[in-house]
Amino acid sequence: MSWTPESWRGKPALHIPDDYPEPKALAAVEGELSSYPPLVFAGEVRTLRASLADVARGDAFLLQGGDCAESFKEFHPDNIRDTFRVLLQMSVALTFGAAMPVVKVGRIAGQFAKPRSSPIETKDGETLPSYRGDIINGMDFSESSRRPDPQRLIKAYGQAAATLNLIRAFASGGYADLRNVHRWNLEFVSGNQQEDRYRALADKISEAITFMEACGIDGKGVRAMREVDFYTSHEALLLGYETAMTRTDSTTGKWYDTSAHMVWIGDRTRQPEGAHIEFCRGIENPIGVKCGPSLDPDDLLQILDKLDPENEAGRIVLIARFGAGNTVKYLPPLIKKVHAAGRQVVWSCDPMHGNTVKTEGGYKTRPFDSVLTEIKDFMDICRAEGAHPGGVHFEMTGQNVTECIGGSQQISEADLSSRYHTHCDPRLNANQALELAFILADSFKETRENARE
Ligand code: PEP
Ligand code: CO
Repeated sequence: MSWTPESWRGKPALHIPDDYPEPKALAAVEGELSSYPPLVFAGEVRTLRASLADVARGDAFLLQGGDCAESFKEFHPDNIRDTFRVLLQMSVALTFGAAMPVVKVGRIAGQFAKPRSSPIETKDGETLPSYRGDIINGMDFSESSRRPDPQRLIKAYGQAAATLNLIRAFASGGYADLRNVHRWNLEFVSGNQQEDRYRALADKISEAITFMEACGIDGKGVRAMREVDFYTSHEALLLGYETAMTRTDSTTGKWYDTSAHMVWIGDRTRQPEGAHIEFCRGIENPIGVKCGPSLDPDDLLQILDKLDPENEAGRIVLIARFGAGNTVKYLPPLIKKVHAAGRQVVWSCDPMHGNTVKTEGGYKTRPFDSVLTEIKDFMDICRAEGAHPGGVHFEMTGQNVTECIGGSQQISEADLSSRYHTHCDPRLNANQALELAFILADSFKETRENARE
């Protein structure tokens, strides 16, 4: 039962490549990484856990979002800024509607490794290993590009570090100051419903700030108005990388995975006896667990016993991703089981991964309506079962892409080819993401008003 950062190596490890041409070179890179500076600090992770404990108690909301897969090619400060900015906008809408703090966690600065439905890909009669994310191999369909390359771990670390550096500057260097709420509006959102709604909201917030300042409360002196706490997260899939980033905290002597504040375990790698659960049980970071239709409620309890033996609020985020229409079937028994066991968890909804469809034109897409249906079902079911609908987990970007169909821009199948840039799954664009935030905010507002009556 004893845990070390390496103890997962003795367990069945799915979706981790075993075909590095030179395993020694991989071990050397992992050794090198283990001497690099941590990307996040134990104290920050503890603060996030405390905020997630508020979510578990029903006093806050978790907004988690970002790329399906970050890529070396799309690495650009504007992309980071745009994702950060739309998450800020969403969070303002949600804070206002839900009247509760929003815990902001990006799927960013480390989201590089992907589980794939097939280990191989065939094109024009040629078969090669699948693309597994930029931290492992390349997307180009060639033998050399698809070969796993250990140097990619170093490059991913560097990109994560630079991304996080910029995010920290945005979060605390003045950009996120609430008095800039008008400036966060995205140029391309202009001329549509989301822009009008956002502008109206920003006006209200500015008015409230002016009122407060007139009353003698100086916004500059209030940290919560000047800065935001913004956290990072990714799927803890490539365990060699995670192990290399795992360090003991000098103040508590406990282990922290310093690659991100929060990590999650994917729907395909959450076997109770598997390597990913083994690794995650020993680190102090908050852990997300993706819950798909194949999850047996008894297995979930076993997973929770392993990951959270002390039953601490803020440790576990259960991320439901059943697909529109399936949530009604799978979520209620899960909530009942978890509650009956007295477990304190955050319930979050990933309305993306159960709603992927392929168009006749060959594009993977997600209909906005299915995404919305899954969120609404999730909210209704949580409320009916006496659980707090605690969060959402979106694949999204601040860019004006055309990857998911529908939404108020009415993106059609024919539009998909115009700006389809994702390296993996289709993402909500800024407009669609903001639209969902407003819908969620309305739902919270309505619930609040009904409770008051
Ligand atoms: C993901 O979040 O990118 C993912 C692969 O999700 P899931 O494990 O839920 O399929
Ligand atoms: Co995805």
